[in-house]
Amino acid sequence: MAHPTGYTRAQIALHWITLVLVALQYILHDAMSEAWEALVAGGEVVFDPLIAQHVATGALVAVLTFVRLGLRISHGAPPPPASEHAALKVVAQATHWAFYALLILMPVSGAVAWFNGVEGAAVAHNVLKLALLALIALHVVAALVHQFVFRTNLIARMKTPVA
Ligand code: HEM
Ligand code: HEM
Repeated sequence: MAHPTGYTRAQIALHWITLVLVALQYILHDAMSEAWEALVAGGEVVFDPLIAQHVATGALVAVLTFVRLGLRISHGAPPPPASEHAALKVVAQATHWAFYALLILMPVSGAVAWFNGVEGAAVAHNVLKLALLALIALHVVAALVHQFVFRTNLIARMKTPVA
């Protein structure tokens, strides 16, 4: 895998677009959750544009994550700051790959629940939702600790592209 000095414009754009899309999924999920409850109870699902939004935004996250994975493999990612402790390098790597996995597993589990009526997939969707939130919390704390405690200016890497 390549070792560039920074992320490309496309990688940075995809990082922040994904953040907005994922935030929308957490903020606007009520209509989808209610529709699912109605479906499980054998009732009728009344169309709500926010149901279509949840499906479409989730599908877009999956597509963009595959594009991102392609760029991650073809372009690579900058190495961690030289001063970084070996254990933290491993945690950072694991966190980043876990993000890619969750950003694909969330839409897949949601789609299997919604389109095939598989209740186990909805349970998985709910567990993964918590795992993704925990990962985001860890990731944001790590970014802030890097910025303000280690002073590695890490956030600049997700703002300033290399060619
Ligand atoms: C990155 C993508 C996605 C994220 C972050 C996400 C997030 C969420 C969240 C936070 C909930 C609320 C769970 C609760 O009631 O507390 C939810 C529910 C649900 N989502 Fe998604 N979702 C994504 C993609 C999808 C997709 C693509 C589909 C369907 C095609 C889908 C179908 C569902 C269903 C059926 C529920 C109701 C499940 C239940 O309440 O047990 N999701 N989703
Ligand atoms: C939904 C929320 C987020 C997701 C899914 C996410 C995902 C990711 C992933 C997968 C990477 C690794 C890219 C790679 O090298 O393969 C990454 C890197 C990064 N993220 Fe996030 N991120 C999120 C939110 C944030 C937020 C809120 C911040 C800032 C406070 C942030 C700051 C960074 C920085 C600085 C890097 C670069 C780390 C480095 O160069 O080693 N991220 N993010």
